Amino acid sequence: MKPRIVIALGAAALSKWSARVQEELPEADVTTRDAERETADDTATPADYALVWRPHPSFFLEQSRLKAVFNLGAGIDALAAMATFPRSVPLIRLEDAGMAGPMAQYALAVALRYAYRFEEYAQRQAQRQWAPRRPFAPAEVTVGVLGLGAIGGAVARALVEQGFQVRGYARTRHESGAVRAYSGPAELPAFLTGLQILVNTLPLTADTTGILRREHLERLADGAHVVNLARGAHLDEADLLALLDAGKLAGATLDVFAVEPLPAEHPFWSHPRVTVTPHVSGVTLLEDSVRQVAHKIRSLERGEPVGGVVDWKRGY
Ligand code: GLV
Repeated sequence: MKPRIVIALGAAALSKWSARVQEELPEADVTTRDAERETADDTATPADYALVWRPHPSFFLEQSRLKAVFNLGAGIDALAAMATFPRSVPLIRLEDAGMAGPMAQYALAVALRYAYRFEEYAQRQAQRQWAPRRPFAPAEVTVGVLGLGAIGGAVARALVEQGFQVRGYARTRHESGAVRAYSGPAELPAFLTGLQILVNTLPLTADTTGILRREHLERLADGAHVVNLARGAHLDEADLLALLDAGKLAGATLDVFAVEPLPAEHPFWSHPRVTVTPHVSGVTLLEDSVRQVAHKIRSLERGEPVGGVVDWKRGY
């Protein structure tokens, strides 16, 4: 039988995605559903596979025979928090799918900016001060990467390639070349201690929510820089602002926020040491994602196992 696929995305993206999925899987029957529609359609045709990004909870009320759900992003936190999401159906997240390379470059840009003291010169510039200082060599800068999955692993490797000293932290041990590996809560303090740059790529789970809080950020080197590429809820915003204002931290580059879009009145917008980017470090790429999902649907149809299946016990 033809596999039936439903794609639930924002209305603007639907036709492009459905055309591409249909092209990649000509044997499938592809339909679309506006992810934002708030009412469940009782007459919707039951699909085998759903491809979704943050659909309205009503979507899962109208799809009761799904064999698998593909999350068209890396982070599954929105679905994890959705009461209507059917936990018995395998949820499969994107693995890299072209996101890891750009995220590694984003992190590298921040690390080089730190090494060249751009942040410091921005403060000097505001006072019209000409104050040259030797840049740090990458080997003099220790960067910690929180999370060593498809994304964090790529970030750590890119930093190593440029000569930075890199530590990596993950739930379980990941030994990889020049990255000094730390794992589990007991090793978190040693991982954090003395880092000049901390880059967060962790999945959002009960264990990682609020991990960027005072108790942990205070362990970083004086004048450290914090980079959040994962989820706003990893960061305690008040703690970050207090540590920046106290001079403990020199800066932060934030791509994700507790509330997105970042509200107009939020203090991050005007903070001289905070760089705000609008959740752009790792966008879902249509081509790479469709190819990855199509490959996995074919594997599932043949009864073969696929990667990226969410393990609800660990939360990602
Ligand atoms: C984006 O934030 C994603 O999770 O893919």
